[in-house]
Amino acid sequence: MTKRVKILLDESEMPRQWYNLAADLPKPPPPPLGPDGNPLSPEQLSAVFPMNLIEQEMTTQRWVDIPQEVLEMLVRWRPSPLHRAVHLEKALGTPARIYYKNESVSPAGSHKPNTAVAQAYYNKEFGVKKMTTETGAGQWGSALAFACSLVGLEAKVYMVRISFDQKPFRKMMMQTWGATCVASPSMETQAGRAVLEKDPDTPGSLGIAISEAVEEAVADKSGKTKYSLGSVLNHVLLHQTIIGLETKKQLEKANEKKVDVVIGCVGGGSNFAGLSFPFILDKINGADIDIIPVEPASCPTLTRAPYHYDFGDNAGLTPLLAMHTLGHGFIPPPIHAGGLRYHGVAPLISHAVNLGLARPQALHQLECYEAAMLFARTEGIIPAPETSHAIAQTIREAKKAKEEGKEKVIVFNLSGHGLMDLVGYDNYIHGRLHDYALSEEELKKYTEDLKQFPTPHIG
Ligand SMILES: Cc1ncc(COP(=O)(O)O)c(C=O)c1O
Repeated sequence: MTKRVKILLDESEMPRQWYNLAADLPKPPPPPLGPDGNPLSPEQLSAVFPMNLIEQEMTTQRWVDIPQEVLEMLVRWRPSPLHRAVHLEKALGTPARIYYKNESVSPAGSHKPNTAVAQAYYNKEFGVKKMTTETGAGQWGSALAFACSLVGLEAKVYMVRISFDQKPFRKMMMQTWGATCVASPSMETQAGRAVLEKDPDTPGSLGIAISEAVEEAVADKSGKTKYSLGSVLNHVLLHQTIIGLETKKQLEKANEKKVDVVIGCVGGGSNFAGLSFPFILDKINGADIDIIPVEPASCPTLTRAPYHYDFGDNAGLTPLLAMHTLGHGFIPPPIHAGGLRYHGVAPLISHAVNLGLARPQALHQLECYEAAMLFARTEGIIPAPETSHAIAQTIREAKKAKEEGKEKVIVFNLSGHGLMDLVGYDNYIHGRLHDYALSEEELKKYTEDLKQFPTPHIG
């Protein structure tokens, strides 16, 4: 008998509801603030998002029904497999049992379509005709392009310039699904032109691309163009919880009674939240689980940045969010994990970290590429550079289990494949990559501006 390596669910076992961590946190997170410094009203968000999603953003209901139409889109690739990484375990000689949730099986190659199809559905329901968005590595832009093609909406994607240049195939995927993709900063918006005027050679940032996409949505006074965000916000994290809910059912099928470590990489936080929030609920209820969000050491938001109110974008068009933030003017170093180059982390995750419910770690890119190479050569899948951060931390934990002689159960989120990110691998293999550490001076410079905003109370 061979060891069982894939734990599968039948389509009929797919969760019918999303899980909302906001219902169970021991203390509520500080609310987003409007330009007047007061808690944001739903109406203030209505120029940007449709009201049905705004309601979801603000709900504290524990379980939210997944509409039938969304289930029918999700079932094209869900439930996703949970794999036991037996070959990686063997290579490491660890007594730990390592599992990974394979979100790379979606049409766009990552977890991002889980929320893209939901957001496209709610926008269509609300009468919207066009959605605008930003994308870092191109995973989110292609996910939204795919989702808009399913429901019949126009999509416009502002792609961070460095990724636009490094990853031309992502742009082609978006075009194949019928979307328009432009490099950001662009000359198409005021926000883009302002940045280009100061720095024509800028690599761009997610913060700048968000400003451009929001500006275009707000400029359409007919209300038929809305903006969409692929991470950070509560409703996006909510849609991703199907990952963790499926994982729990699969671990049960694998006869695992206890999970010791849960790991996900963190950009804005959506794939980490998707896997971990149902486990954070167990932790709130007394389970002993080490829950680890992993970020790049070059963009150390949860591990080194202050917890503060800040804008979600570069130009200051979004509400003020209470989060760990490197400052909305932060221009991250050009590491290959484009989707992790964001200045903030989701308010719900920032708050959970402050409450001691998650233990963030920061890793350098060379260690992550080394881990990705080992993973590719044992398990076979070439992971996205973002995902390699979760794999590197998993390897650290598996080695620790070996040193301690403990049979731990470690679960991580394989958030995406790296088949569109091979330039990064090529650079790694040929020794052209190096690590970037953010100095204390740079950190101080970028976070200096935060003083103008209120300090949130941790509670
Ligand atoms: C494969 C993959 N993993 C992780 C991320 C990080 O985003 P988030 O923290 O929202 O999951 C991205 C973002 O583009 C991604 O493409």
